[in-house]
Amino acid sequence: MATISGRTFGSDNHAGVDPAVLAALGAANSGDAVAYGEDDASKAAVARLCAAAGAREGYLVFNGTGANVLALSLLVRPYEAVICAESSHLNVDECGAPERVLGCKLLAVPTPDGKLTPDLVATRLTGLGDEHRAQPRVLQIAQATELGTCYSLTELGQLRDFGHEHGLLIYLDGARIANAAAHLGCSLSAIAACADVLSFGGTKNGALGVEAVLVMAGGLTAGGKYHRKQVMQLASKMRFLAAQIDALLDEDRWLANARAANARASQLAAALAVVPDVRVAYPVQANGVFTDVSRDLACRLLQEWPAQVWSEAPDGRRAVLRWMTAFDTAEEDVAEVAAAISEAAARTSAEAAAVQSG
Ligand SMILES: Cc1ncc(COP(=O)(O)O)c(C=O)c1O
Repeated sequence: MATISGRTFGSDNHAGVDPAVLAALGAANSGDAVAYGEDDASKAAVARLCAAAGAREGYLVFNGTGANVLALSLLVRPYEAVICAESSHLNVDECGAPERVLGCKLLAVPTPDGKLTPDLVATRLTGLGDEHRAQPRVLQIAQATELGTCYSLTELGQLRDFGHEHGLLIYLDGARIANAAAHLGCSLSAIAACADVLSFGGTKNGALGVEAVLVMAGGLTAGGKYHRKQVMQLASKMRFLAAQIDALLDEDRWLANARAANARASQLAAALAVVPDVRVAYPVQANGVFTDVSRDLACRLLQEWPAQVWSEAPDGRRAVLRWMTAFDTAEEDVAEVAAAISEAAARTSAEAAAVQSG
């Protein structure tokens, strides 16, 4: 497997831990602290994050799938349904966890770029009041999306208003909310205000492993702590989750880390824009670059790089590969991976030309 200075570009989860987070974990590792979040430091970190988002309540959890399941547990009953993008992590990459744990149905909608619109959501608002049909109750949106795109605040507000008008509660999967805030140049609270419940992702932002579920709407706060325990997301040594959140909030490190990752993705997209046979498939608004390439080039790149194959054309002639940057990706690393992709593209076209000329 190729790496550049240890970077794989395969996922933002391939990245290590921000040294400031590690230092905070070390500092938290002193003496005893009351367990399960009852210690002062854990309460303070949660209160701090809630204040930044304008949330009423917050729950720290171990991972993003757990955050999604906990959040939805506050919003749906087993006969209800969640409208989401077909490409959402919730729909594709959680092994059916929401369906298994909550018993709810996901109503997945194809989108051109990972983003839902009121018109797309409307296509799934069917069977209301019909006892034979799961009842749409939640509109789930990812900000940033799994395709590296971001909703504008106007788009988010329109979705919230449309959802509320149609009796839907809004859940925003914020595994990469920091990247979205960095792209939009807005506060956490501006995005959070468009949701009834949201998650705040720490892990992809430089934490070792922490996410938070934040409850915005009144009336949804009852029972969260019981749900968290039932879905096995209550940490006994909570202070170590809290220390990571504190470190990310200190000096707005969460935003700085996201800005750095986004800037590297933009740099990569700009470098690839001039490479023949490489098309950047979606607008680069967060920390992911999706390249639409020929099958031969995809095969060559995948021999070297652990890039994710995002999709393949039905005729198998082209594939979309995902390249991710992280908080600690360096400019030189991006320049090198762009050069490696460019060289692979040139070799692939030269070989194709040689075959054609016989
Ligand atoms: C948008 C989104 N939500 C949730 C998750 C889930 O995170 P985890 O792998 O920690 O369960 C991911 C992970 O890639 C993600 O991209």
